[in-house]
Amino acid sequence: MDERIVSNHELGEDGFELSIRPSSLDEYIGQSDVKENIRVFIKAALMRNTNLDHVLLYGPPGLGKTTLAHIIANELGSNIKTASGPTIEKSGDLAAILSTLEPNDVLFIDEIHRIPRYIEEILYSAMEDFKLDIIIGGEGQSRNIKIDLPPFTLVGATTRAGDLSSPLRDRFGIICKLEFYTTEELTSIVKRSAKVLETSIDDAAAFEVASRSRKTPRIANRILKRVCDFALVKGNGHIDIDIVNESLDRLKIDKSGLDSTDIEYLMSIINKFNGGPVGIESIASSIGEESTTIEDVIEPYLLQEGFVKRTNRGRVITQKTYEYFKINNQTTLFDFY
Ligand SMILES: Nc1ncnc2c1ncn2[C@@H]1O[C@H](COP(=O)(O)OP(=O)(O)OP(=O)(O)O)[C@@H](O)[C@H]1O
Ligand SMILES: [Mg+2]
Repeated sequence: MDERIVSNHELGEDGFELSIRPSSLDEYIGQSDVKENIRVFIKAALMRNTNLDHVLLYGPPGLGKTTLAHIIANELGSNIKTASGPTIEKSGDLAAILSTLEPNDVLFIDEIHRIPRYIEEILYSAMEDFKLDIIIGGEGQSRNIKIDLPPFTLVGATTRAGDLSSPLRDRFGIICKLEFYTTEELTSIVKRSAKVLETSIDDAAAFEVASRSRKTPRIANRILKRVCDFALVKGNGHIDIDIVNESLDRLKIDKSGLDSTDIEYLMSIINKFNGGPVGIESIASSIGEESTTIEDVIEPYLLQEGFVKRTNRGRVITQKTYEYFKINNQTTLFDFY
């Protein structure tokens, strides 16, 4: 799965993502509603000299949640402390992070839906009253500790807003849903990244990379990086439309940005389940992927683009998909792929 070039998972490849990450709201392309609201709230917080309200960012992987969290801290002129839901295992882990906060700092918790519920409760009073109230020590010698915290801003990010408990969700004053990007926005992102990478790219080539990037900046940047490699080795380093088309054919990314995993997913529903409706678990075992991977990584784009529909009886292939692959859906073609 992680081998997929169109994977929208963070791979942490050699600081590449970091190097092309925009650092201010002005450089952050698209998401105009979210951006303009946040700009106002940050300005108001600065004018009042108070902490910014807690912010929840949610949306599919690779759309810019982590980037935006860092930008918020930059724009506030504050420090950012980062943590990730799965690594906060004990109440002491959270207490250790909270106790380092300085006034108006940003605490960024990625994958916030994965914090264990009993630790989440510590966050409630930290967020609401800026008080840390925990019990430490084992049986017989446990102590209750209360510490006053400075006012701070919690920025939480999640791909699964639905998995957040409502008491936690209710404590965020600012809730932002990040949307998929338009091809025009992604084209601007590709051009900006090419500039940072000191690579020249034609407009048509940037547009082509954008249109095959599943509406996701992380994927656009990753494809751009591979295309840069092809341009350097096979050409003179300049990226034109021919280099893009040739590279993407080699990478087996089709004109809509679908790769072999997407096609396997769609074909499995068509061929093994007659186009659906079929439950996620059956698809998962038929293609050998975790159902969470299917839901978080494969499906968001396919649903958004209308290749598949989610119904209360399961996933159903749409007419668009049959037409896209030129399959006559009256007679299922078992040997199409
Ligand atoms: N609005 C944007 N403008 C320019 N580049 C962007 C934008 N949003 C994201 N990017 C680029 O896309 C990459 C992925 O973004 P980011 O890591 O913030 O996504 P994420 O939503 O946190 O993903 P995940 O859910 O996997 O944590 C970054 O390297 C960043 O450079
Ligand atoms: Mg992230």
